[in-house]
Amino acid sequence: MRISVIGCGYLGAVHASAMAELGHEVIGIEVDERKIAALTAARPPFFEPGLPEILSSASASGRLRFSTDIADAANAEVHFIAVGTPQTTGTYAADLSYVDAAFDALIPHLADGALIVGKSTVPVGTAARLAGRLAERAPHASLAWNPEFLREGFAVKDTLQPDRLVYGVGDDRAASVLDQVYRAAIEAGTPRIVTDYATAELVKVSANAFLATKISFINAMSEIADATGADVTALADALGHDARIGRRFLNAGIGFGGGCLPKDIRGFIARAEELGRGESLNFLKEVDAINLRQRQRVADLAVEALGGSVFRRKITVLGVTFKPDSDDVRDSPALDVAVQLKGLGADVVVTDPEGIENARLRHPQLAYTSSTTEALRDAELVVLATEWREYRALDPHEVGRFVAARRIIDGRNVLDPVQWRAAGWQLRGLGRP
Ligand code: UGA
Repeated sequence: MRISVIGCGYLGAVHASAMAELGHEVIGIEVDERKIAALTAARPPFFEPGLPEILSSASASGRLRFSTDIADAANAEVHFIAVGTPQTTGTYAADLSYVDAAFDALIPHLADGALIVGKSTVPVGTAARLAGRLAERAPHASLAWNPEFLREGFAVKDTLQPDRLVYGVGDDRAASVLDQVYRAAIEAGTPRIVTDYATAELVKVSANAFLATKISFINAMSEIADATGADVTALADALGHDARIGRRFLNAGIGFGGGCLPKDIRGFIARAEELGRGESLNFLKEVDAINLRQRQRVADLAVEALGGSVFRRKITVLGVTFKPDSDDVRDSPALDVAVQLKGLGADVVVTDPEGIENARLRHPQLAYTSSTTEALRDAELVVLATEWREYRALDPHEVGRFVAARRIIDGRNVLDPVQWRAAGWQLRGLGRP
C-alpha cells in the first residue's frame, strides 16, 4: 500500500521503516530538517537497536522516502499520525497541538477514500473530535485510531511482531484497510481487536497506567521491605510465580521515566477530571508520587552513604537514559538523580553508552565521560542508575581498582549483593537488605 507517516521521532521513524520493510511504499514526513537529512541518508537520528538495519534495507529498496513537505504525502492511501503529545507546561494535560497541526496540514492533500490513522497517544475523545472535523472538511476521507504499544529498545520487533493490534474505527472499511497494512502480522496470528474510537484510545492510556501502577506497587513494597529487612527482589520473584500477577514490570528501583509512562498517567488524570470522573483515577496520583519518591530515596541513600553530606564528594552515576538500549533521557530518573546530587554540591560524573549527548543538551552543568573506567576513577560513591548490560556485568574486583572507596548504590537492584560485598563493597539497593 502507499503509506505516509507524519512525524518521524522515536515512534514514526520506526513505524515508517517497518512498514517499508513489510513491502509498503512509504513516505515519512517530519518538520525537523536535520532528522529528515539523517533519515534520507539512512542514518537513524536516535539510538534504537535494529533500526539502522531496516532503515538501510528499506531505503535501498526504494520503498522508503522522507520529506519535510506534507504535500508529498498526497499520493498515500493511508496516513499515520505519529507526532508527539507531550505534557503541557504547567498542567497535567497532554499537548495536542502537534496532532491538530498534522491533521489540519494533511486535510488539503487527502485523496479520495484516504484513511487517516492516529498512532499518537491522545486523551479519550480526541478521535471523535477529529472525525467530526474530517466529516466537515474532507468527507471523502475517514479516520481510525490504532494505538502503538512499542517499547523503546524493542521498537522494531514490537512493530513488526506486535502482541496485539487495536483498531478504533468509525466504519468497517477502515478495519479492512488496516488489515491490508498489517497483513503479515495478522497472518502470523496476532490478535486483533476492532472497536470504537474511545475504547481504542483508552486501551493505550490504561495499558500505560497499569504498567506504571505495577512498577509503583513494587516500589511501595520496596519501601516496606526497607523498613522490615525483607528483600523486594525475592518478594517479586515469589509474586511473579502467580500467573495472575506475573513477574514482568515488578523490578523495584529508581522508578519509571521516559517520554510515555509519566506524562501518560498525568494526561489520563487530567482527562478524567475534565470528564468529571477525577476520583476514578485519583490512585494514579499516588502512583506518580511513589515513583518520584524513588528518585529522592536514591539521593537520600547517597547522602547517608557519604556520612551526611555529598558536598564536594566525587560521585559516579552509571547510566543516564530512562532505560537501557535507548538514548532517550526524557524524564529520566537517572538524570534526575544526577542533577539532584549535583545540586547538593557533589562532584558528579555521569557516563552512559548512548545517552550522553542528549543529557548534555538538557544539563550541561554535569560532567560527562563516555569511558566507564574514566568515570569511576577516584569515585567515593558509585550509583548504578540505568541497568545497561555492561554495568550489570561489572566485576566488583575490577571496579574496585579505580574507585577511591568501595561504596555503591544499586538503583536498579541488578547486582549480586553477595558477590559485591565479598569484594569489600558497601552496597545498598532499594528494598534489599
Ligand atoms: C512504554 C510502554 O511499555 C509501551 O508499551 C508503550 O508503547 C510506550 O511506553 C509508549 O507509550 O509509547 P517505554 O516508555 O519504551 O514503553 O518503556 P518501558 O519499557 O515501559 O519502561 C518505562 C520505565 O519503567 C523505564 O524507566 C523503566 O526503567 C521502568 N521500569 C520498567 C521499572 O522501573 N521497573 C520495571 O519492572 C519495568
